[in-house]
Amino acid sequence: MTEAILLVGGKGTRLRPLTVHTPKPMVPAAGVPFLTHQLARARAAGVEHIVLATSYLAEVFEPHFGDGSDLGLHLEYVTEEEPLGTGGAIRNVASRLHSAPGDPVLIFNGDILTGLDIPALVDTHRTSGADVSLHLSRVEDPRAYGLVPTDGSGRVTAFLEKPQTPEEIVTDQINAGAYVFNRSVIDTIPADRPVSVERETFPGLLADGAHLQGMVDSTYWLDLGTPQAFVRGSADLVLGRAPSPAVPGRCGERLVLDTARVAADAKLTGGTVAGPGSRIGAGARVEGSTVLRDAVIEEGAVVRDSLIGAGARIGARTVLDGAVIGDGAVIGADNELRDGIRVWCDAHLPDGSVRFSSDQ
Ligand code: GTP
Repeated sequence: MTEAILLVGGKGTRLRPLTVHTPKPMVPAAGVPFLTHQLARARAAGVEHIVLATSYLAEVFEPHFGDGSDLGLHLEYVTEEEPLGTGGAIRNVASRLHSAPGDPVLIFNGDILTGLDIPALVDTHRTSGADVSLHLSRVEDPRAYGLVPTDGSGRVTAFLEKPQTPEEIVTDQINAGAYVFNRSVIDTIPADRPVSVERETFPGLLADGAHLQGMVDSTYWLDLGTPQAFVRGSADLVLGRAPSPAVPGRCGERLVLDTARVAADAKLTGGTVAGPGSRIGAGARVEGSTVLRDAVIEEGAVVRDSLIGAGARIGARTVLDGAVIGDGAVIGADNELRDGIRVWCDAHLPDGSVRFSSDQ
């Protein structure tokens, strides 16, 4: 049985302020910490032993997931004293693996929502005889990603981090953040210093003549690193566009968690989630948004494609579009916030004080 490493130690800076109190993999998507979806998908693919490589806010993972038995998994946790980067984190958990040197080990970034055929990636690895195999996804605009061109047989020919000029954009195949490593390759990563698997390990292996194999799988794929992507991913889980065995309850257009209270004439659409203890007032319209636990949306508010942090309060008739509201923030009545605007945790915006977007 293949075992897996999950990288969950990043600071999640792009997702601030939601990652101020909560590490990115623990921010709820479709009602459960995002990591739950990844763990459940790995389990469904036959993985039983998973080591979580933690660093930032490491202490919150184990109290929630324990030994993993609720998900049918055996989970272990390894915490870095100082963040070791993606490669260093992989090396740092090597002593917990049970695999023999030639065995394949799955490695997942902790912020990717995907329908990847995990057994197919392991099969590709075995049949190609590669040292490392990578899931590659195709995207329209690859500038924010690491490009991974391959030859006719799928063998990786280069790693190009975040290309900017048209000449640098030689392929639309990007590193999708899921790998199979031969166990022996993990042991060659330097121990006890930060290493980036994308910038150091992969290019180094290629330069040394190692066999790196790419598998293009054009299934659902989303990097939940930004607030806009996170909200989209959560809504796609609710709408059934993104596959996960861990979405709680029957969904449809919306997911209302048990203790949420939604006024009879409030309209929740587009994969909106009302978290536990949240309250949505009369006549409010909430579309494609995630409302975390104990947040309140008062009557007549209109919320689109936005993330509302735990315990935050959105005043009556306020309009939010593409906004991120930190935990505990209070937005008074009759405000208007648009276009990726972020309000910090516990901030207080008085009634009628704001009518702007981030590009003004
Ligand atoms: P940003 O700060 O917004 O870029 O997010 P991030 O910190 O999560 O970084 P990135 O998205 O590049 O990380 C990819 C994956 O690796 C995520 O699942 C991170 O949790 C994880 N990761 C990044 N750096 C570290 C690290 O130093 N240690 C561990 N254990 N995991 C890491």
